[in-house]
Amino acid sequence: MSKIVVSAGPTRESLDDIRFLSNRSSGKMGYALAAAARAAGFDTVLVSGPTALTPPDGVRTIQVESAAEMAEAVKREAADADAVIMAAAVADYRPAEVFDGKMKKQPGDLVLRLERTEDILLSLGRVKRSGQRLIGFAAEADSLEHYALDKLQRKNLDWIAANRIGHGEQGFGADRNAVILFSSTGKRIPVPLAGKAEIARRIIEICLLDRP
Ligand code: CTP
Repeated sequence: MSKIVVSAGPTRESLDDIRFLSNRSSGKMGYALAAAARAAGFDTVLVSGPTALTPPDGVRTIQVESAAEMAEAVKREAADADAVIMAAAVADYRPAEVFDGKMKKQPGDLVLRLERTEDILLSLGRVKRSGQRLIGFAAEADSLEHYALDKLQRKNLDWIAANRIGHGEQGFGADRNAVILFSSTGKRIPVPLAGKAEIARRIIEICLLDRP
């Protein structure tokens, strides 16, 4: 059976023992992809940041918190996987210093210094085995096609699913989505607005089963 790794949800980057930086990802798209991959017969591993969702039946789920933890789990599972879909909204930055216990407030403003996290997809692209498929997401406010194609190439991906942000009922946190799929071979396949389960089913069909 082919093995697939799907990442989902946000990451949390700690400031101290009780505070963190995160984002509005609900995890719904990644969980739908894991369910669709399982339904299509893949041995499916879901690496999930903190979400309110229940893992799909039959999917081995690894819960992580930070970008560093997600990188460790995804890279380990990707080593023998036939495909990886990075649907997680991985933090690009984390606090450069993490305080032990609870940070006390001081008079005046606080300036936080952030450092870059590892770009997991870029790392996977650098060690991609022949035959392994790598699929990424690009959430863009403008110049969707331009930025998506740049990510596709720079990260050595086979497919990228691009969606617009700032479009109310689709994307981050919403129940529906619409994406355009771009392949490294020059295909451009729009998947129109639908529930995330249907979008996930189409992504699996097109990107993994080569069924347009
Ligand atoms: N990604 C990743 N590791 C990160 C950040 C993102 O693997 N540290 C993955 C995401 O899961 C997604 C894709 O990379 O599949 C998104 O690409 P990215 O360049 O991070 O997009 P943005 O975060 O929107 O960055 P930019 O500000 O450059 O548009």
